[in-house]
Amino acid sequence: MFKKISILVVLLAVVVSMFSFVSAQNTELSGDLEIFSWWAGDEGPALEALIELYNSLYPNVNVINATVTGGSGVNARAVLNNRMLGGNPPGSFQVHAGSELTDTWVVAGRMEDLTFLYEEEGWFDAFPQGILDLMTYEGGVYSVPVNIHRSNVMWYNPAKLEEWGITAPTTWDEFLAVCPTIQAAGVTPLVVGEEWTQRHLWESVALGVLGADGWNGIWTGETAADGPEMVAVWEKFGEVLACSNIDTDATGLSWQQAIDRVVAGEAAFNIMGDWAAGYMSTTLGLEPGVGFGYAPSPDTAGVFMALSDSFGLPLNAPNRPAVVEWLRVLGSVEGQNAFNPLKGSIPARSDIDLAATGLYNQYLIDTAAAWGSDVIVGSLVHGTVGNPRFAGEFSTVLEIFKVTRDATATANALFAVCVQSGECGY
Ligand code: GAL
Repeated sequence: MFKKISILVVLLAVVVSMFSFVSAQNTELSGDLEIFSWWAGDEGPALEALIELYNSLYPNVNVINATVTGGSGVNARAVLNNRMLGGNPPGSFQVHAGSELTDTWVVAGRMEDLTFLYEEEGWFDAFPQGILDLMTYEGGVYSVPVNIHRSNVMWYNPAKLEEWGITAPTTWDEFLAVCPTIQAAGVTPLVVGEEWTQRHLWESVALGVLGADGWNGIWTGETAADGPEMVAVWEKFGEVLACSNIDTDATGLSWQQAIDRVVAGEAAFNIMGDWAAGYMSTTLGLEPGVGFGYAPSPDTAGVFMALSDSFGLPLNAPNRPAVVEWLRVLGSVEGQNAFNPLKGSIPARSDIDLAATGLYNQYLIDTAAAWGSDVIVGSLVHGTVGNPRFAGEFSTVLEIFKVTRDATATANALFAVCVQSGECGY
C-alpha cells in the first residue's frame, strides 16, 4: 500500500516538473545558444530582458547575443542569408512573421515545423488566428511571435506643437496645409531618415490614400499597380516628401536620429513603427502623451498596419534542445511581459490584460485597444506581406521616384515588379 502511494507521488512529481517550466531552474541544458537579430545598441534592452529571463531558468546555457546593427534588418538579413546558405545557421534568428518567413526559409525547407511545441504549450489557442496564419505553411507552423508592432504611427513633441500653435494633422491634406507655417518657424515639417525609413513612410502614405481594402487589393490585383489610385499614392507621397528633409540629409539618419530631431523640436513629425515608442520611453525616459505624442499616420485612423517579430528553429540548429526552450520562453506569458513593455510593442498572445499587469505604459494600452478594434492590414517593409522579390525590388521603384518625381512612370515601374514577382495576382 505505502509502496503504491510513494510510486504515485514520484510519478506525480515527474509530471509536475515536466509541465512547470518557469518555476524552477534547469541545470541539464548547457553549451552555447546563439540568438541572431538586428536588435543592437538602442534596440537591445527588450531582447536582453528575454535573455536574462532565459538564463534565470537555464543558468548553464551560454547565450550568445549575436546582432548585426541596422534598422529593419537591412544588414542582418544579408548576413543571415550567407550563414543559412553556407550551412551555418544560428540557434535561432529574428524574422518577421509572414512572407519574410514563409516565402524565404520555409519554402526552401530550412526550418523545423514547431507544431509539437504549439501543442505542448496550448499556443494554437493563445495566439490570434491572424498571427498563426502568418507563420503557417502547408499545415506546419514555423516560428514563435514575440510581439505585434504597429507601422502606421505619427510621432511628435506635444510641447513643441503647442509652441508653434499647431495640432497633429489627421489627414495628409491638413499636414500639407500646415507645412508652410512649420517651415516658416525654421523647422522640418516631416523628418525622414535612411532609405528603408522612406519606404516605411511610403507604406503609411499608401495606406492613407488607398484605405485598407485598396492596400489589400495590391496583393490580389484589385488595386492595379499602374492604375489611377496608385498614381495618386505617388503624387501624394511626392507632396509629403516636399515637406521633408529628403533632399538634404535624410540618407545619413538612422530611425533613432530622425526621432531625436522630433524630440529636440528640430522637426515636427515622423512616421515610424512603434519601436519608436520603445526608444523614447525605454532609452530616452520620456512619458507617452507628455514627452512624446502619437497618432495614427494621417488618413489611417481605424486601420492598424501590423507586423510581428518572431523566432524559429532552423534545420540542423546547433544546441537544438536549448533552442526549443528559448522558443518556449518567448511564447510564454512571462516572456511576452518581459519583452514588450521595453520594446514598444504589444504581446502577440491574446490572453494578456496589459493594464492588469501594471507593466505597460499608456501608449501600449492604447495600442492594444486599437489592435482589438481596428481593421488589420500587413506591413510590406517589415515582411508581413509582399514576397521577398517584390519587397526587394520595391527599393528600385522608390529610387525611380526619387530621381524622376514622376508618379505615372513610377506606377508603371511598380507594375513591372508586380509581374516579375508574381505577387499582385497577375
Ligand atoms: C522592424 C522590427 C522592429 C524594429 C525595427 C527597427 O523591422 O520589426 O522590431 O527592430 O525594425 O529596427
